[in-house]
Amino acid sequence: MRGSLKKIGSLILLSVIGPLSLSGCTPLSITNTSLASGKNQMRVGVVLYNAADPFIMNMCDSIIHYGGEEQKISQIQIIIDVMDSKNNQQLQNTQIDELIKQKYDAIAVNIVDRTESANIIDKVKEAKIPIIFFNREPVPQDMNKWDQVYYIGTSAAEAGEMQGQILLEAIESGMKIDRNRDGIIQYVMLEGEPGHQDSILRSYHSIKVLEDAGIKTENLAVDTAMWQRGEAKNKVLEWVEQFENHIEVILSNNDEMALGAIEALEEKGYFEDDKSIPVIGVDGLSQALQAINDDKILGTVLNNADEQGKAIFGKLYNLSTKEQSQVVLDYENDGKYLWIPHKIITKETMN
Ligand code: BGC
Repeated sequence: MRGSLKKIGSLILLSVIGPLSLSGCTPLSITNTSLASGKNQMRVGVVLYNAADPFIMNMCDSIIHYGGEEQKISQIQIIIDVMDSKNNQQLQNTQIDELIKQKYDAIAVNIVDRTESANIIDKVKEAKIPIIFFNREPVPQDMNKWDQVYYIGTSAAEAGEMQGQILLEAIESGMKIDRNRDGIIQYVMLEGEPGHQDSILRSYHSIKVLEDAGIKTENLAVDTAMWQRGEAKNKVLEWVEQFENHIEVILSNNDEMALGAIEALEEKGYFEDDKSIPVIGVDGLSQALQAINDDKILGTVLNNADEQGKAIFGKLYNLSTKEQSQVVLDYENDGKYLWIPHKIITKETMN
């Protein structure tokens, strides 16, 4: 999937900000016909918090892919312009201002800073341009500012619960996790960005599942590695120095950081000496699946980038054309929120 994205990415250009003539899905077939509404083109903007984030790029890849599928059979020209906000809210604001100025049909935003949602909603409301937030969820108070504000994502609590279940099942199946046999699971927690719903709730619910099942836990350390592999690797290198062999589990809010953790464990020779520490992530990145297969990651939770991207495209199409996409069937939703379910992935579920 990443490969195909790169190809399309170079065509559509992940731009800092416009010229905005950059056309997303290069039209595969342009016809002269139009929809019942008389529309012969749809033009939408997709604004990413940071194109350096592999999970986000999988989602972007999916949006573009389904746009391309629709274009093959569509009567209208489909233009999806993708922008990279480079983790900078100010830059994102100017990008959105430009999309508004150029009267795009609809905008999908992966916001940099969730507390900026209200400001953005006020602007699109005034311009009457419907907006879909994805992956980074505005608070309900902001979501309710206008009826043309939507959210497409996953339940952060559910991902945490599934991480807890992976660990619980491993303990119940007799895996040697409580190495010092003190009846308590000593763990460290790698967290995503502070303030992100997925950091706060995944951490809380993963541990809650264990505690609810009567398993005692002890948090040796918790820190943010900002969703990033390199930062996570450094953190875990520090922790294994500090706690030596006392860490019994590494919980990670996402796979990138879980992969950083196993790089650190590899460097410290943990896999050679059979003293490896179970690591659990979230996302289902292909490298994480490989690591599960290689017995380096115990499990992950599928944060379905493909389905989320598909649902986002379907909604953008619908908001722009007032018609139903032909390639994206209607997802169950309450009119405002659309949730894509998670799935547990372990070596057993993969084979
Ligand atoms: C994903 C992370 C990603 C983050 C970005 C989370 O849902 O699990 O991998 O970095 O979203 O907002």
